[in-house]
Amino acid sequence: MDKIRIRGGNKLNGTIQISGAKNAALPLMIASLLTDETLRLMNVPRLADVALLQRILGNHGVDCTIKGKRPGQPSMAGQTLDLCAGEIVDTTSPYELVSKMRASFWVIGPLLARMHEARVSLPGGCAIGTRPVDFFLDGLRALGAEIELDGGYVVAKAPNGLVGGTVTFPKASVGATHVVMMAATLAKGTTRIENAAREPEVTDLADCLIAMGANISGAGTETITIEGVEKLHGATHTVLPDRIETGTYAMAVAMTGGDVMLEGARPDLLEAALDAIKASGTHVEPTNSGIRVFRNGGPIKAVSVTTEPYPGFPTDLQAQFMALMTRAEGNSDIVETIFENRFMHVQELARLGAQISLDGQKAMVEGVPQLTGAQVMATDLRASVSLVIGGLVADGETFVNRVYHLDRGFERLEEKLRNCGAEIERISV
Ligand code: UD1
Repeated sequence: MDKIRIRGGNKLNGTIQISGAKNAALPLMIASLLTDETLRLMNVPRLADVALLQRILGNHGVDCTIKGKRPGQPSMAGQTLDLCAGEIVDTTSPYELVSKMRASFWVIGPLLARMHEARVSLPGGCAIGTRPVDFFLDGLRALGAEIELDGGYVVAKAPNGLVGGTVTFPKASVGATHVVMMAATLAKGTTRIENAAREPEVTDLADCLIAMGANISGAGTETITIEGVEKLHGATHTVLPDRIETGTYAMAVAMTGGDVMLEGARPDLLEAALDAIKASGTHVEPTNSGIRVFRNGGPIKAVSVTTEPYPGFPTDLQAQFMALMTRAEGNSDIVETIFENRFMHVQELARLGAQISLDGQKAMVEGVPQLTGAQVMATDLRASVSLVIGGLVADGETFVNRVYHLDRGFERLEEKLRNCGAEIERISV
């Protein structure tokens, strides 16, 4: 299994091209199940999760073509996927595929809407909490679906098609919002989603569905209204830039010092995280082509953050910010309110010499003057990258094991960091 070796101590200087957002690309690909025409997605990141979803969709009958590179395109340009679900040949999504990635469960919405039935294994994915599916099932039931659990599978049926209804989520859920919104596009009548997730990826999916002929208003607010239509058609859509990748590299620069241009990044997608980075003593400058991040000299200041649904500080940047705070001057509190078990990185950061104590959902970080390289590993992808951030300033060598987590969510991470002066390489063992 591959490892990443990092020798800490180098500042980051240069340009990093921000990829298309993984968390937008996945639901957008799944939306291709809603039409028998071709959905063309541009700026799709080259990630293990994208490749796995291609396999899962292929199993349902989706033809997926990856367009080759065009002359003059920058080497980091995202890929273009043509997805065509001309005919759905299978409405079952098996355990072997769905257990590897939670988002693949989301096929249940489009399959049910278009085929009036779906049999989808209960999901797997990163070990960051229990992550139940009750909101999904209640949401689909509100659209008239009959749902049973059978041997680890969710079996959903709507023999006469879905009908619009009102869905009120007890807690904003990104995945459940995606699924109910997709399902409602082909339901008869009007659906209202109350307490909908407001994440930019929900808005991106809604924009694509609208381009496919759906009638949706209110995406990006707490109430989304969908008027069902008979049929959706093909469309072309460009995936929005990855705000989590943007925040991760911004935090890496805040950690090492230096001056990096995050090309293609959109500051409006991560204001809360950028505010926290600025408060820690790093300059963040929006430009015409992205975001410039620089810190030359000066200490890292301690900043406390609490994760919240969008537009609050994202849970997917919590581990990375904690890594930054391990080197701050002073103490900070990091409170996790989205997932109940998302502190797996704490014990690994401690191997690098970080001083962190836990009290329920709160991590108390006491900044230390130096980290020291060590062997570390993580059980989820954002936690893994927090260890890379730690390794970039640790004294000596850090080995990050279980690299497959990184490959699920970060396109060519070593190359992007190495191009900016980091001493980082992948070792096959
Ligand atoms: C998505 C993101 C993930 C991010 C998370 C929160 C993708 C592919 N993944 O995950 O990177 O960390 O949003 O921003 O986009 N919940 C329930 N019952 C349900 C569904 C959710 O209780 O049926 C709870 C979850 O346990 C969690 C909260 O709702 O506490 C939010 O989770 P949710 O927004 O659904 O996360 P995901 O969509 O899985």
